[in-house]
Amino acid sequence: MEAFGYREGELFAEGTAVRDLADRYGTPLYVYSRNHLRQRYRALADAMAAIQPLICYSVKANSNGAVIRTFLEEGAGLDIVSGGELYRARRAGADPARVVFAGVGKTRAEIEYALREGILFFTVESEAEAARIAACARGLNTTGRIAFRVNPDVDPSTHTYMTTGKKENKFGLDLERTRRAYETAAGLDGLEIVGLHMHIGSQILDVRPFAAALEKVAGLCRELREAYPAFRYLDLGGGLGIRYRPDDAPPEPAAFARAVGPAVHALGLSVVMEPGRFLTGNAGLLVCRVQYIKENALKTFVVTDAAMNDLIRPSLYEAHHEILPVTRREGTVYGDLVGPVCESGDFLARERELPRVAEGDLLAVGSAGAYGFTMASTYNSRPRPAEVMVDGEESWVVRDRETWEDLVRGER
Ligand code: LLP
Repeated sequence: MEAFGYREGELFAEGTAVRDLADRYGTPLYVYSRNHLRQRYRALADAMAAIQPLICYSVKANSNGAVIRTFLEEGAGLDIVSGGELYRARRAGADPARVVFAGVGKTRAEIEYALREGILFFTVESEAEAARIAACARGLNTTGRIAFRVNPDVDPSTHTYMTTGKKENKFGLDLERTRRAYETAAGLDGLEIVGLHMHIGSQILDVRPFAAALEKVAGLCRELREAYPAFRYLDLGGGLGIRYRPDDAPPEPAAFARAVGPAVHALGLSVVMEPGRFLTGNAGLLVCRVQYIKENALKTFVVTDAAMNDLIRPSLYEAHHEILPVTRREGTVYGDLVGPVCESGDFLARERELPRVAEGDLLAVGSAGAYGFTMASTYNSRPRPAEVMVDGEESWVVRDRETWEDLVRGER
């Protein structure tokens, strides 16, 4: 099921007209399709059925509690990257024993919080971090379960800002150093070595880099299984890409399963996955209202009430998001879709054929369910948008629109 589609020229989110949502809840507005979220989870779980992975939804993609709970109901675990995300996970009702904790800069306070909650394991980025986890665990009279993050040095052919598994990236340790890091960690009281982690990048549209990475680390996995009795998890990270443009051809989950299946079967380890964008990206729209049409000698600027502070991906990565008219109209205009923020980099689409619109019309920015609201800011003192969940013909607010009072909360 596609989350969004047209009925007699009107854009619908499941069984609900987007126009009605905009009228009811205001704009800019994030709209999520609950059934699309469920269906993406099930598609991945079904494709991976033979491997039975623990699918840990990567909370950073969309950390709204209603989104997290939707996946928890489907049986997901969670991948978190901060104490704040652990707090959200617990608030949404997650079982800590199904939570993995990533990130290069975990503080003592975050580590202690995770140890107290009893998470499944930490994915560890450096020897120093392992030592810190060990010390924290001893202090709390407990054990920290760890999986080092290996950087397999493969090129996932994605945006440089979304590449994480190459030598020049800050993430993980190279193969040789990972091997030594395990030896060092094995000598520390307070740690249990339970797995190996990798995450090679994001928005990956080809399954071959995943297979290549797996091939590179398979030998190390075998050694670790021999050496450490508790070693049983292979965490493949996230990164599965989605369709942003109509002609993008992201891999089907079945293709991913075929690419990694034989190697993971041969290793006999329990697989963990950390999908984010795959589960939420195409479940979300950012709906905005046209404020002005401004023309200059070169092009047309369609000025809307949504801006880079609401969705930063176009500005930050030059990411392409489809721009959909909420009511279909004849014709297009060539130009930029921009917001009110005082930056030349404030655009949602640039130098494209845009739907021909007039002041007051509604537009929807596609594929905004991942790294949309979670990367939003209040720059220019713009309160962040409301978020709405749609399930069939029902809709409800899952986060209130921020107010001007929210902007100054905590200021003294
Ligand atoms: N696991 C780890 C350790 C990660 O760092 C990430 C994403 C994921 C899983 C989930 O990756 P996904 O399945 O969503 O590709 N802000 C960027 C994406 C940055 C991703 C950061 N890490 C964007 O808007 O495209």
